[in-house]
Amino acid sequence: MYQYNGFDTAFLKQRNLQFRDQVQRRISGALSEEEFKPLRLMNGLYLQLHAYMLRVAIPYGTLNSAQMTALASIAEKWDKGYGHFTTRQNIQFNWPKLQDVPDILDALSEVDMHAIQTSGNTIRNVTADHFAGAAADEIEDPRPYAELLRQWSTDHPEFQFMPRKFKIAVSGSAKDRAVTRAHDIGLLLKKRGAEVGFEVTIGGGLGRTPMIGKTLCDLLPKSDLLPYVEAIVSVWNLLGRRDNKYKSRIKITVHENGLQEIQRLVAKRFSELRPQFKGQDQTLLNALKNAFKAPAWIDAPTATFHENYAKYPNFKSWVDINTSPHRNNDYAIATVSLKTPGQTPGDASSAQMRVIADLAKSYSHDELRISHAQNIVLPHVHKSHLFAVFNGLYPAGLATANAGLISDIIACPGMDYCALATARSIPIAQEIALRFKALKLEHDIGPLQIKISGCINACGHHHVGHIGILGLDRAGVENYQITLGGDATETATIGERAGPGFDASTIVSAIERVVFTYLDLRLSNRETFLETFRRVGAPPFKAALYPGGNEGKTAA
Ligand code: HEM
Ligand code: SF4
Repeated sequence: MYQYNGFDTAFLKQRNLQFRDQVQRRISGALSEEEFKPLRLMNGLYLQLHAYMLRVAIPYGTLNSAQMTALASIAEKWDKGYGHFTTRQNIQFNWPKLQDVPDILDALSEVDMHAIQTSGNTIRNVTADHFAGAAADEIEDPRPYAELLRQWSTDHPEFQFMPRKFKIAVSGSAKDRAVTRAHDIGLLLKKRGAEVGFEVTIGGGLGRTPMIGKTLCDLLPKSDLLPYVEAIVSVWNLLGRRDNKYKSRIKITVHENGLQEIQRLVAKRFSELRPQFKGQDQTLLNALKNAFKAPAWIDAPTATFHENYAKYPNFKSWVDINTSPHRNNDYAIATVSLKTPGQTPGDASSAQMRVIADLAKSYSHDELRISHAQNIVLPHVHKSHLFAVFNGLYPAGLATANAGLISDIIACPGMDYCALATARSIPIAQEIALRFKALKLEHDIGPLQIKISGCINACGHHHVGHIGILGLDRAGVENYQITLGGDATETATIGERAGPGFDASTIVSAIERVVFTYLDLRLSNRETFLETFRRVGAPPFKAALYPGGNEGKTAA
């Protein structure tokens, strides 16, 4: 893992001192809320529905146990004993007091963490595949590239006041687990013959105008990454619309100017920038590759794993559903679900964070990842340790075997916390998860991603959910619109709107009808929901949602 050097530490210390002074001036009344707002946003501090909210960056979702333990301590000491892991691999604390925030930032800096550029019109936390450095299908670990981008973009003087926020995601395998096509820039490592490079997509984004990223460069040489990304951002920084915040994201710039024109402008800017990069970036990249080199793998027998797998059905089920193939065959990647039916998706208590941190230290080479699906990953577990990991997770309520299944729901904070929300998301997620738990159908249904947002901003990724739910406000009443057939992977697709929305009391039954339709129509239990949807299209699902053909009218 990358560890801060003297420069990083000094920079952060300085920055925190500056913010401590700003907070004091706000508390004394020397700064008005209006004057304070841009200053707090530069440090990830939002003012939400009930309280301040602090968003802390977890670069490319990678943490070690000391960092996770520090997050647990912060939750305990200065918040209400829990934190919320988000779809952008950040953690949000929902209840900090303003006067405590400087102390929280100092506590974070002690473990190489901060909240810089988690807000504002800047380049936000660079996200990556949560199986980075571990996945069996990986071409190369994407994190050195993500760290290079993080260092380049942090406090970059040219990119602090852009038309709008800017999000970059990197995936190191052709299988896209980082939702790259829903980002302003998506970087997907690809192999063509002996050549490895990045497919660069731009203009992806969700929000009120969802768009799938378009390919700007098919195979970018890896050594051109920084000048090329800088060329894109600087072209948009000049061309992007500042007159209307709803048209300011790069997706609209691409849409209004055309991909070819953007390609031309980026190529021109790239030709100016390329010669200015004289190799320092590559020297740094090589040092970063060294920082991210694989741990020393354990060489031990795995016989006990196979014995326990055959003996304990709960363990078998967890292994089957929550572990994924590792690049070392004696290892597994373990997903720790933060989606026990009935709980708030993505929330972890400080006690749970400590359990996970301790397990990472003992059994995952001290590494953890946060996934965009709001779960936590132990990336490197030797198979002989899987049973101990399972037994460590179980009493903490963390061994739910549902990764990728219907109760593994992504949900934004919605009306329970967010000032922009038009409806609640968390209770709907909880109800759906509990309904399907009671039906005992989850494992039979198989892979199915439900994603819920509490307003049009789409923080819960509903557009790319196999089933998406968007909570709106219709004359003071919560109304939930369903989208079908969305896809967040390398075959990214925006879901199709099914029809009129449902109120809070009927949305769960509506989802049940969609799922039963799938179970009726699938060719076998190996055909997934998305495959069935793609084969038969929306009509049978719409017929189930709106019996009597009242599609055009308000749903019951
Ligand atoms: C303080 C609470 C939050 C506020 C005020 C907020 C605000 C917004 C806004 C205004 C947008 C739309 C941006 C656009 O279309 O230009 C957006 C998009 C998004 N937000 Fe949030 N958000 C919040 C919390 C979250 C949380 C908790 C997550 C993760 C669970 C998240 C992840 C995202 C994602 C993934 C998108 C869509 C991708 C895109 O930028 O196009 N946000 N957010
Ligand atoms: S989607 Fe809307 S309600 Fe949900 S977190 Fe984003 S801004 Fe808030």
